[in-house]
Amino acid sequence: MLPVTLTLDPAFTVGPVRRRTFGSFVEHLGRCVYTGIHDPEHASADENGFREDVIEMTRELGISTVRYPGGNFVSGYRWEDGVGPREDRPTRLDLAWHSSDPNLVGLDEFMEWARKTGVEPMMAVNLGTRGIQEALDLLEYCNVPGGTHFSDLRRANGHEEPYRITMWCLGNEMDGPWQIGHKTAEEYARLAAETARAMRLLDPTIELVVCGSSSSDMPTFGTWEATVLAETYEHVDYISAHAYYWEEDGDLASFLASAVDMDHFIESVTAAADYVRAAGKHTKRINISFDEWNVWYQKRAESKPPTGDDWPVAPVLLEDQYNVADAVVVGNLIISLLRNTDRVHAASLAQLVNVIAPIMTEPGGRSWKQTIFHPFAQASQHAVGDVLQVGIDAPTYDTARFGAVPVADAVATRDPETGAVSIFAVNRSLTEATTISVDVRSLTTAGDLEVVESTSLSNPDHTWAATADDSTSVLPRDNDTAKVVDGVLTVEVPPVSWNMIRLG
Ligand code: AHR
Repeated sequence: MLPVTLTLDPAFTVGPVRRRTFGSFVEHLGRCVYTGIHDPEHASADENGFREDVIEMTRELGISTVRYPGGNFVSGYRWEDGVGPREDRPTRLDLAWHSSDPNLVGLDEFMEWARKTGVEPMMAVNLGTRGIQEALDLLEYCNVPGGTHFSDLRRANGHEEPYRITMWCLGNEMDGPWQIGHKTAEEYARLAAETARAMRLLDPTIELVVCGSSSSDMPTFGTWEATVLAETYEHVDYISAHAYYWEEDGDLASFLASAVDMDHFIESVTAAADYVRAAGKHTKRINISFDEWNVWYQKRAESKPPTGDDWPVAPVLLEDQYNVADAVVVGNLIISLLRNTDRVHAASLAQLVNVIAPIMTEPGGRSWKQTIFHPFAQASQHAVGDVLQVGIDAPTYDTARFGAVPVADAVATRDPETGAVSIFAVNRSLTEATTISVDVRSLTTAGDLEVVESTSLSNPDHTWAATADDSTSVLPRDNDTAKVVDGVLTVEVPPVSWNMIRLG
C-alpha cells in the first residue's frame, strides 16, 4: 500500500469552480449529429427528431456549454444552408470529413436542442472559407431582436426571440494544414482581430475565443499564440487550447500520466498570453478556453475519413471505445482543468455523442455510457464552490515520456456555503493500491467532517470497455475503506483507479 498525503487548507484557493469547465462539443462529424443527437426514427425522438435518451444522458453528464458546429467542419460551412424550410436545404460536401451533409440539422434545430437540454451554446464562425461579413450575418441572425434582414429571417423561420449567444469562437484550429483555409499566424491574426472588432460593434456583450495552436506539437506552438494575441489582445477574451491524449502504444505508465502534459500545456499557453500582456502593457488577462480535449485513438482505422467517390452521410468515424484506463486518464485531465481554474475559464470534452464520446448510440436503437462518462459526471455534479490548492506528497514512478511522476494526483473543492468538500483523485500505479490520507481538521469549524460518499472506478482488467450489451459491469462503486478518525481522512484506492470522496 503506497502512502499518499494530501494537504488542504480552505484559506488557499485557486479560484472558483467554473460551470463552463464542464462543456462539450457537437460537430457535424460522423454520427455525432445524425443518429447521435438527432434520429427522427428513434422511439424516443421528440417532435424535432431529437433523441430524448441522449438529452437525458447529456443532462446526467452535467454538460454546461456545447460548442457547435465544428471543429474542422466549420471551416467549410455555410450556416445559411441549415436554416429555413428543410425541403429547400441543399446537401453539401463536407470536405473536412469527406462526407455529405443534408443540412437537416442546422442552427435553429441546434438551438432548440440546446434550450431543451439546458446547455449554453458556444458558436464557432467559419474563418476558413469565409470572413467578416458572414460572421456578422450569423451574429445578426442570432442576437439582433428584429427589424433587420437576418434577424427578420430568423423570425420568419419561427424564432421570434433572439438567441443572444454569448460565447463565439473565431474559427477553428486555423494553423493546421488539414484545416480548410488554414493561415499563417500573421494572416489569421489580422482576420481574427478585424472579425472580433466588427462582431463587437454589432454586439458588445459577446465573449470571443481566438484560436491558439491546434496542438502543443505544432512547430509554431507558442509563437503562434504570441503573434495572434499581439494583434487581437484587446478584442478577445480567451485563447483556445486543444489536446488529445492517445493510444497507450504499450506504454500505459506514460499514458496514465497524460495530465502532466496537460498541466504543462496550460502553463505554456498562459505564459505566452502573459508575455503579450506584459509587452503590450495591457491590464486585462486573456484566459484559456480548452475547447477540445479527450483521449483519442487517432491511429485506429475508425479515425480515417472515407476516400474517393464515397461521400456518405453520417459515416462511422472516430467511434473510439473507451476502457477503464481511459476513464482514469479522462478523470485526471479533469483534475488538471480544475486545478488550473484561475486560467482555464472554459473547456469542452470532445465530443458528446458517438465521435470520441462519453455517450454512444445505435441508429434507431440503444444508447449507453462509455467508461469516460463517469468521472466527468461525478466531477460536474460534485465539484462545487472553490478549488483548493492541494499539496501532494506521493511516491513517484518512472515514465518514458515524463520522467518520474507522482503515483497519485488529486484536486479538491470546497463549497463555502455548506462547508462540503469533494476530493477527486487518481491512482496511476499499475500494480499498487495507495492509501490517501488528508488531515481535514482545518476544513471546518462547524463540527467534524464525515464521509458522505466515497467511490472508486477500477477493474482488475483495465482494458474492460462498455458496450451496448454491457455498459454497467464496471461503474464507480462504493469504497467502504474511507473513514475520518481523529480528524484525518484515510481511504485505500486500487491501482489504475478514479476516485471521489465527499465530506460533509
Ligand atoms: O474533434 C475532432 C477534430 O479534432 C475537430 O474537428 C478538430 O477541431 C480537431 O482536430
